[in-house]
Amino acid sequence: MQTTTAISVIPGVPESLKRIEVVVPEPGPMEVLVDVIRCGICGTDREIIEGHIGLPPQNQQHIVLGHEVLGRVHAAGSGVTDLHPGDLVTATVRRPDRCPSCQAGQPDMCQWQQYTEHGIKGRNGFLAGKFITERTYVIPVDAHLEETGVLIEPLTVVEKAVRQAMLIQRRMAVWEPRTAIVAGAGPIGILGTLLLRSLGLVVYTVARTPAPNIHSDVVRRAGAHYVSTREETITALAQRLGNVDIILESTGASVVAFEAMAALGINGVLVLLSVTDTATMMKVSTGRINNGLVGGNKVVVGSVNSGIEDFEAAVSRLDRFNQLWPGLAASIITHRIPFNDDLSSVLHEPKDAIKVVIEFGV
Ligand code: BGC
Repeated sequence: MQTTTAISVIPGVPESLKRIEVVVPEPGPMEVLVDVIRCGICGTDREIIEGHIGLPPQNQQHIVLGHEVLGRVHAAGSGVTDLHPGDLVTATVRRPDRCPSCQAGQPDMCQWQQYTEHGIKGRNGFLAGKFITERTYVIPVDAHLEETGVLIEPLTVVEKAVRQAMLIQRRMAVWEPRTAIVAGAGPIGILGTLLLRSLGLVVYTVARTPAPNIHSDVVRRAGAHYVSTREETITALAQRLGNVDIILESTGASVVAFEAMAALGINGVLVLLSVTDTATMMKVSTGRINNGLVGGNKVVVGSVNSGIEDFEAAVSRLDRFNQLWPGLAASIITHRIPFNDDLSSVLHEPKDAIKVVIEFGV
């Protein structure tokens, strides 16, 4: 039986990050064994590392981290005829329970909340030399996307967000979105900015830190406007813009979600993507927010995780990004840390980081 080294934590125990050896079985029928090339680290991983969220697999103490992966097929189990050793792949994060939505192929819309997630809830993740998962959840990646393919999973989060917005807006005979605000300039905000720009919208990306900085740089190279909230609040920006058709919220601060509700334009749609702390309290004019939403036919929608279709869309979208702005998507990966380095950059986000990835040297 072969083993592989993985980076794990004990959920609920802050900073319990450590390397462990995990057993890698042979792939069973309709399973795929993948060699990991690189794995991204995100805010969710840091929440798990800090002990706030996360659940180990049944009867285990540790969970292997990592859910943003790019790898190569090592071996395919019986019945898998369309993937071969060496093929570049990624994998979706969530696995279904028995609820009607999961059974209909939409685990990202799970009703019973008994789903599992690689590296987050009840399943080992991909921050390991190798992993096994079901063929259904393995997504082929074009060979020329090797440099940026590790961004596919975070990109799917905004693919789903924009897909939800577009589905919802079919309620109107006419909706021609022109102006978008993206709140937050972390990896999700930046990928959302690029996505909305690639669709031709005028995009304002709002973050705390004044420009110039590495985040504002990427935003501007994509032809979007970077606004620091130290210089202009979201409320003031929305007033200046006239009508904001779509807002993506990805700051990680719940107060911004409420500011965004008030800033949204007539017939607009606000997609909330942040997982936030539950202690923050603020005073809001409930009547003003309510009247704005009712009187302007506005929609506020939450969106989590993503589906296979979002992964497929993200693969083509990355290609589109590379055509529109050569080298820009790759520049989002600011830190490439060898797997055998000390774990400090996994533990704490390095200064001036957008996306940190762990390299397995495959
Ligand atoms: C992942 C999602 C996941 C969510 C909540 C995010 O970081 O991208 O796939 O559903 O965390 O667990």
